[in-house]
Amino acid sequence: MSTAAPESQNFDSLLRENRLFPPPAEFSARAHIRSREEYEVMYKRSVEDSDAFWAEAASELEWFSPWTEVLKWNVPHAQWFVDGKLNLCHNAVDRHALGSRADKTAILWEGEPGEVRKLTYAELHAEVQRFGNVLKGLGAKKGDRIAIYMGMCPELAIALLACARIGAVHSVVFGGFAAHALVERIQDAECKIVITQDTSYRRGADIKLKAIADEAVAACPTVESVVVYQRTGKPVDMQAGRDYWWHELAAKASPDCPAEWMDSEDPLYILYTSGTTGKPKGLVHTTGGYSVGTYLTTKYIFDLHEDDVYFCTADIGWVTGHSYVVYGPLQNGSTVVMYEGAPNFPECDRLWQIVDDHKVTVFYTAPTAIRACIKWGDQWVTKHSLASLRLLGTVGEPINPEAWMWYHRMIGKERCPIVDTWWQTETGSILIAPIPGAVATKPGSATLPFFGIVPEVVTKEGDPVPAGQGGLLVIRKPWPSMARTVYNNPERYQAAYWSEIPGSYFTGDGARKDADGYFWLMGRVDDVLNVSGHRLGTAELESALVAHPKVAEAAVVARPDDLKGQAICAFVSLEEGHEPSDELKNEIKKWVAKEIGALARPDDVRFTPMLPKTRSGKIMRRLLRELATTGTVTGDTTTLEDFSIVAKLREQDE
Ligand code: WTA
Repeated sequence: MSTAAPESQNFDSLLRENRLFPPPAEFSARAHIRSREEYEVMYKRSVEDSDAFWAEAASELEWFSPWTEVLKWNVPHAQWFVDGKLNLCHNAVDRHALGSRADKTAILWEGEPGEVRKLTYAELHAEVQRFGNVLKGLGAKKGDRIAIYMGMCPELAIALLACARIGAVHSVVFGGFAAHALVERIQDAECKIVITQDTSYRRGADIKLKAIADEAVAACPTVESVVVYQRTGKPVDMQAGRDYWWHELAAKASPDCPAEWMDSEDPLYILYTSGTTGKPKGLVHTTGGYSVGTYLTTKYIFDLHEDDVYFCTADIGWVTGHSYVVYGPLQNGSTVVMYEGAPNFPECDRLWQIVDDHKVTVFYTAPTAIRACIKWGDQWVTKHSLASLRLLGTVGEPINPEAWMWYHRMIGKERCPIVDTWWQTETGSILIAPIPGAVATKPGSATLPFFGIVPEVVTKEGDPVPAGQGGLLVIRKPWPSMARTVYNNPERYQAAYWSEIPGSYFTGDGARKDADGYFWLMGRVDDVLNVSGHRLGTAELESALVAHPKVAEAAVVARPDDLKGQAICAFVSLEEGHEPSDELKNEIKKWVAKEIGALARPDDVRFTPMLPKTRSGKIMRRLLRELATTGTVTGDTTTLEDFSIVAKLREQDE
């Protein structure tokens, strides 16, 4: 791993930020946690008597059989709620459907073309049971891996819940990924079933999910069946004996599918995320700890009450969608708003229209979406009242104080607290965020740790740095929803997270803790980019680039981007006999989008006769980053293999 300087640009602006926004009194008055003192008492107990704290939290869920021990910890292997038996689908659905929330709306969905569907907890219960039986009918058994490649529709949530119900391990692949990325993920987990849909809408266009799934499945011999949800009715090829329509199988399925008794440590899902090397990592989350972690964070950080209407704009293809569209809010018995399409379709006020139409009270999105709204103009916001909102959240990347203030003024009308939530695919649930009724916020800071979480900013040697200084963010104690391993690759789990700072979980993020104990996240310190809140590994991008027949070598670095946070800048050297041209630049950009997905399309492609390397052969990324950002190089370049390279790269500055 290369430990580069954290995002200094962001850091500078954050250093100057000292505004403080105490929780509004009327918010605190009805919040679960109403004062800083109350938070402090709970936090202290959660770290000093953590077994008792987590046992109490877990008791708010239903267990088929109790745990015998709260935590077994043998670094880096955690077992939480040892021997306990439960089912996450039972806690997210049955508990409410069979209790007082049967007729409460569980999922309130809006399709991109504008149709609205509401599913009550009782209806969701029925749908999930039928689909659980559909999967069983196709031979799915406890522990089998099932890939899900869909757009944002209620059936996507139903597919996850049905897997959890029967004990199958879901592996959701974001619908924006290309066939190759789908193949990689299906093959790694040896999925037996793929669940997809005919096509999906995005800004009015069709995303041909089934056709892409067909291309992928052709390369995946483990896949026995493909279930196709009919979303748009667009024609698709169905392969007899392999492909089945969701509605046809569901119509024949029994409506009664008991929830499997799952052990706390039985795997719940695999979710792939980019790391510093080659292939994406399949993080494995297990049942008990993940249930408790997502349940409790949702309850306290989004301060959910019975009458809340909760809207998280994340796609279920990412961890935010898993934890905070599906599992967290449903375990809390909340009404979850799901939206299928683009935020600027048909116009730039779609999200605010949804907020007003459905009286959304809690709204959770990414800084990149906020920055896009700022760019589109305030007139799209002021058309709407937004009076129902009481709490706002952000996730996925550092939020710049300017965007935070706009969110606070324009969307929150200075009345809604903002919870800036820091966490990762690996952490399963939010680790650092303000408890909104209790903790004063500062624009750009994720503030204080959640219960049971002990973060620290340290040097490369693992020593704590003084307040105000930047360093690496580590977590000192295990927490229930932490990923347990990398699928089929425990060595990689150990190497990526537990070797950098022995005994602590290494996040890969740079951070600073200020004199008030508030955490300021400063971006990745490794070779992972954060483009519009999406993680992309430079190694992944580079391997897609060199797969292009005309590309000899490639290095990818980030440059700061006002909208996306980071933009992808690719330095490319060509095979003998090929000349740089604008056409080739475009061809290469398209190629990467086709290989990985549109989200990975490079913003810049720059040609160089060879890449600048140190004498030991390492690509000089710092230098490339500097070139990509400023167009000039000021640092020490004496270890360069070929000095002329720098001059040639400079010449191309556009
Ligand atoms: C970044 C998304 C600053 C961070 C939940 C982390 C953030 C990576 C924040 C994880 C935040 C996420 N402030 N940075 N509030 N939230 N990040 O796995 O670099 O897609 O390591 O999980 O996003 O991205 P992932």
